[in-house]
Amino acid sequence: MTSKRVFSGIQPSGELHIGNYLGAVQNWVRLQTQHDCLFCVVDLHAITQPYDASALSSLTFDMAVSLFAAGLDPDKCIVFVQSHVAEHTELNWLLASVTPLGELERQTQYKDKAQRQESVALGLLAYPVLQAADVLLYKASLVPVGEDQVQHLELMREIARRWNARYGDRFFPEPQPLLTKTKRVLGLDGKAKMSKSLGNTIGLFESPESIWEKLKPAATDPARKTRKDPGTPEICNIFTLHQGFSPPDTVTEVAQKCRTAGWGCLDCKRVLADNMIKELAPLRERAAAFKRDPAGVLQRLRGCADRARTLAQRTIADVRERMGLLKNV
Ligand code: TRP
Repeated sequence: MTSKRVFSGIQPSGELHIGNYLGAVQNWVRLQTQHDCLFCVVDLHAITQPYDASALSSLTFDMAVSLFAAGLDPDKCIVFVQSHVAEHTELNWLLASVTPLGELERQTQYKDKAQRQESVALGLLAYPVLQAADVLLYKASLVPVGEDQVQHLELMREIARRWNARYGDRFFPEPQPLLTKTKRVLGLDGKAKMSKSLGNTIGLFESPESIWEKLKPAATDPARKTRKDPGTPEICNIFTLHQGFSPPDTVTEVAQKCRTAGWGCLDCKRVLADNMIKELAPLRERAAAFKRDPAGVLQRLRGCADRARTLAQRTIADVRERMGLLKNV
């Protein structure tokens, strides 16, 4: 165990799919054994865009179940729901006073999202401030994220630097992104990123039959029009999935059989399906057990939120004092 603290967050999009798993959560499961980790379902971030209030709590619950089933273990890390620890919103406000507005307006994610809406909420602009609060509240120094979050991380460091300059030298560490090595997992259509809203996913807990039904028609290297055409594994999404689910020897073999047209795409998918089904079977069983015991899941979340809050309150007390707020004795 090193002294480095790790924090990451995931939007409450319901059950995990294999894209989330390979892109982030598989790595989190490894990290929990190496560092002092907190993983957060960021429901307060989810409300910065139009959303269905009647669905949010079950999406949040399902994401928590997914994280536990994927192997995040409360004995090894803290898995909690953002809104359960009110200190996130408090630090958000305190950091807002040192956040340069121009930097917020320059964030590409903000610009993208704002463009697609008629009326933009302040919360959407402030999204990266809340994200900075998430991480700085625990003085985390490593943030496992994808490439798309790098700009938010830069702003987070800027916020930490500005706060430190005004209120306390080196109080907040400047968090560094820990970029996930896995290639971006595309959807089964082989075009867009795998995403629930596009309906091109395989859920982490799907049945073996359903996994195979989805893999069968999935896009492969378009150069392989017939069984005899050789392919280029590096541009095939099925190969990316092999890298996530198949052992190294198999990955080497798959690449060779593709390049020489030794296997057809369907042969290649059969091997992938077998390995995927094997890796996911225990996760699927754990998920089913959690779903049978929702009270148990809530209790786990509560225990984790209590631990997170204890850490958060220490930081908040120091921040309040340094910022000159009168102690409420
Ligand atoms: N913005 C991140 C995403 O969309 C989610 C997130 C919220 C996050 N707070 C965080 C990630 C803190 C890392 C650290 O993926």
